[in-house]
Amino acid sequence: MNKRELRKIVSEIEQEGSIFSNKSALDTFGVSKIIGRNDKARDLVRLFLGYKQGLVVPFVSVYGRSGCGKSTIVRFVCQNLSDIKYCFVNLRKAKTVFGCANLVLAGLGESNLKNAQGINLAVEKIGDAIEKSLEQSKKSLFVLVLDELDALFLDKRGKPSDFVYKLVVLEEKLREKRLMMCMVGISNNIMTEFDLDDRVRSRIGSSEVFFEAYAKKNVVAILRDRAKDAFSEKIDPAVIEYCADMSSSEHGDARRAVDLLRAAAEIASKNSEKLGKSHVDYASDQLQKDRLEMILSAASYQFKLAASALARITFLSGEVWHSTSSLYKQYEMIIAKDSKKLTYRRVSELLVELKNTGIAVSQTASKGRHGYGTQYRLTASPEAVGMACFSDWWNGLTKQKERFETKDNRPDLWSLGGSRNREFSALLQMTEKMHKKKWKDFSGLD
Ligand SMILES: Nc1ncnc2c1ncn2[C@@H]1O[C@H](COP(=O)(O)OP(=O)(O)O)[C@@H](O)[C@H]1O
Ligand SMILES: [Mg+2]
Repeated sequence: MNKRELRKIVSEIEQEGSIFSNKSALDTFGVSKIIGRNDKARDLVRLFLGYKQGLVVPFVSVYGRSGCGKSTIVRFVCQNLSDIKYCFVNLRKAKTVFGCANLVLAGLGESNLKNAQGINLAVEKIGDAIEKSLEQSKKSLFVLVLDELDALFLDKRGKPSDFVYKLVVLEEKLREKRLMMCMVGISNNIMTEFDLDDRVRSRIGSSEVFFEAYAKKNVVAILRDRAKDAFSEKIDPAVIEYCADMSSSEHGDARRAVDLLRAAAEIASKNSEKLGKSHVDYASDQLQKDRLEMILSAASYQFKLAASALARITFLSGEVWHSTSSLYKQYEMIIAKDSKKLTYRRVSELLVELKNTGIAVSQTASKGRHGYGTQYRLTASPEAVGMACFSDWWNGLTKQKERFETKDNRPDLWSLGGSRNREFSALLQMTEKMHKKKWKDFSGLD
């Protein structure tokens, strides 16, 4: 390639972008305009401004499903209240409690500590930084936002509850110096569902702001507003509706909807076509694949087995919901002979993790007189999951299933020229029964 060819590529790419007038309007990071959610902003402002009456809540739990605007609205409120100083920390990347503490330190502009220096020192440093920041800015209230707080509680060996406790004690110490601080924890689950010990529970109180999932019409409104800024031409309203539909099947997920619209428009633009539903379908497959790949490529062998178990049984049974016990049976069937089989309990924990990544959703179902049990359902197609876990294994599985479906693995009794007498029907019945048994053994289905 020479310079001229490169210039040609640049101009082609620029041409591709012609459908967009301002692509950043479809960015899911910064948002300039929020659609609705005034009630949530009001709840937050009321909690924050309580300090004016000397009432600072130590902890606000903001919770709700993914993509329902939690991070966006909390950030927006914090940015725009003039008398508060805030620090917004996303904990998603932290693997341990200490990692969380370091992310908070980094958010406050402090250098990281080594594990061996201990969590107490980390919390002390956090306190000093907050104190300094309040004094320098002359603001009245410090808000520490801990986004994706769920990550903190995944550290089974660390002491998440203890860390929260130390932060609450820190708030109390600051208050003695007439400095006010409030924490906001953003998570998918309500704070009180986490494993917290009683001294934490009693101290953090019960201030919470619940974000209901968006209805489809809310997602449409958000998309419309973005599309207006993002595109140079008018977009077919049916395309917007379709994006909203596709991202509201579980619960209205605005992030997924915006991503979908952007990806679809990129594809249309690249092919110099008018944006249509087919581009949305294609983009949806693509995004799903990317997401699965991202999660599963980094996952452990055992985690992939749990995902594969659900993919296999969904594929073979054609049904969507599956109990933990039937999934464990699948797990036992697919684990490599030389691998260590995990206990039922560990596998059910892996299924919960699977749910936490969004690859599956769960529900509690009655098992009749056996009480209640958890059931799981994939949110992606079983093929996509199977292929992302173990592609060779999945291809083998599809072939095996096909073989069961075509009748040629059963002896063709008609060709033996038998007449329809009693022995013949008995034989027919028997092969049919054998076939069913083989299928049962292969599929592990009851
Ligand atoms: N009310 C809203 N108005 C405008 N955009 C929104 C709104 N709610 C969500 N979004 C968009 O959806 C994306 C996901 O929202 P986010 O706040 O990150 O969700 P959550 O934190 O609940 O998972 C954001 O990037 C934002 O672009
Ligand atoms: Mg968020």
